[in-house]
Amino acid sequence: MLKKKVLKAFNSQINAELHSSSLYLSMSSYFHSLSLSGFASWMRVQAQEELLHGMKFYDFITSCGGRPMMEAVAKPEADWESPLAAFEQVLRHEEGITAKINALMDLAIAEQDHAAKIFLQWFVSEQVEEEAAVGGIASRLRLIGKDSSGLFLLDAELGKRVFTPPAGQAA
Ligand code: FEO
Repeated sequence: MLKKKVLKAFNSQINAELHSSSLYLSMSSYFHSLSLSGFASWMRVQAQEELLHGMKFYDFITSCGGRPMMEAVAKPEADWESPLAAFEQVLRHEEGITAKINALMDLAIAEQDHAAKIFLQWFVSEQVEEEAAVGGIASRLRLIGKDSSGLFLLDAELGKRVFTPPAGQAA
């Protein structure tokens, strides 16, 4: 059984993950509008992963006998100044998500909720990976600058990313 405070915070994290998904889908659409199909595909996979993150919280709440509650998802931006500006926003956004996950872990520790702590460990590691991946792409975009051939090479590379749903789970 989840304590009230933990349930409330986990429900709020579902909303944060759904907002991340919506933001990245909006970025996918932005990249499509620039004919950067690899970037668009990478962002679409990212949006699918964020939906899966939200579902992980949803499933954890229900498996603990709680009820997930949906809230309005904030409207994402639709346009960015450049691919680099979009990725810089992703990095800032993910740093914010990391802070939220850390706050959830602090709460689970304070409430002595051991199941929640174990559940959150996956997210702590995931955030390290996400920040590293996004930071790496942003750094490469800075190096590429206005070199369009470098941009198209990166576009081809990012287009190789595929979404692999975990066994027994669809998103
Ligand atoms: Fe769900 Fe990008 O963290």
